[in-house]
Amino acid sequence: MLEVQNLSKSYGPKLAVNQISFSARKGEILGFLGPNGAGKTTTMRMITGYLPPSRGQVVVDGISMHRAPIEAKRRIGYLPELPPLYPELSVRDYLMFVARLKKIPGSQRKPAVDRAIERAALGEQRGRIIGRLSKGYRQRVGIAQAILNEPPLLILDEPTAGLDPRQILETRKLVRSLAGEHTIILSTHILAEAATTCERVIIINQGQLVAVDTPENLTHRIKPTETVQVEVRAPAEAAAAALRALPEVAAVAVLGQHNEATRLQVEARSAAAREAIARALVGAGWGVRELRPLELTLEEIFLSLTGSPAAAAGESSLSASAPAGEGGSAAKSNEGGA
Ligand SMILES: Nc1ncnc2c1ncn2[C@@H]1O[C@H](COP(=O)(O)OP(=O)(O)OP(=O)(O)O)[C@@H](O)[C@H]1O
Ligand SMILES: [Mg+2]
Repeated sequence: MLEVQNLSKSYGPKLAVNQISFSARKGEILGFLGPNGAGKTTTMRMITGYLPPSRGQVVVDGISMHRAPIEAKRRIGYLPELPPLYPELSVRDYLMFVARLKKIPGSQRKPAVDRAIERAALGEQRGRIIGRLSKGYRQRVGIAQAILNEPPLLILDEPTAGLDPRQILETRKLVRSLAGEHTIILSTHILAEAATTCERVIIINQGQLVAVDTPENLTHRIKPTETVQVEVRAPAEAAAAALRALPEVAAVAVLGQHNEATRLQVEARSAAAREAIARALVGAGWGVRELRPLELTLEEIFLSLTGSPAAAAGESSLSASAPAGEGGSAAKSNEGGA
């Protein structure tokens, strides 16, 4: 669906994007993850044909952006970082205007606008003036204009930036509902967002591609062992000794004691080790109150891949980390367990 080959962009002496290559399959949601200034917007503007690359090329649905820009652009819907909305127009009038700009034939404009309004869940806002909408609804208008001509590829630049927690949830839901029919590339600097919304994640840093993989595989690539958090009603030293005796266990740390119970963090050599841990503790006659695997957050993955020593594999193996399933608390997500 999309092929990006050795894409580079220099702004004067500054190399903002450095030889990025990747591809996106039909119907997938690909996350573009990187800190401020990583080159996300620059790459997206080159993919959409708004910015000519210094080197490399973009092929959309088999069509070269360089050789046939009009044909290629027609297959792309783009939500820029700052969507060019007209604040004095109503939602419907604005979308009719965009439909004309996108050269949707006259008779098909109204049905196309109605469909986009419905899919972006803007039904009740259709007659309202854009300038008076909340930011979340304005963002939906931006998404509605991007999907107006039903392009197979959607490029969304930080679609949830600046939204409140409820709007973020709703926007993510909307984005997920658009996948399948559309291939979606969305950029974010929020790690939890990529983990909860995207099937594959591209990590970029200082203009360079650092990794492309599923959030799960990224976790395994960095850390082959599994960290398990255990709470057991047992004396600390006895429990730790029992666990250290297991061949499946690489390391044990006592985190603390509370109400007769001991909390321990265990480095296990495989996911199957959890069963051995449970058997050993119950077999010794101790009450097991909790036993759960802790996953690396995408933030730890990111820091590890981009060379920060603090989060390199091994060094942080016994430090506390939030389960990725909770949306990565380290990324300050407001989404909770969704
Ligand atoms: N028009 C421009 N002229 C000069 N430098 C630019 C221009 N646009 C971007 N840059 C620089 O290129 C680099 C990449 O910027 P870009 O906007 O692509 O990053 P980003 O990943 O989208 O960041 P953010 O998360 O802040 O949106 C930055 O160092 C930025 O300062
Ligand atoms: Mg940007």
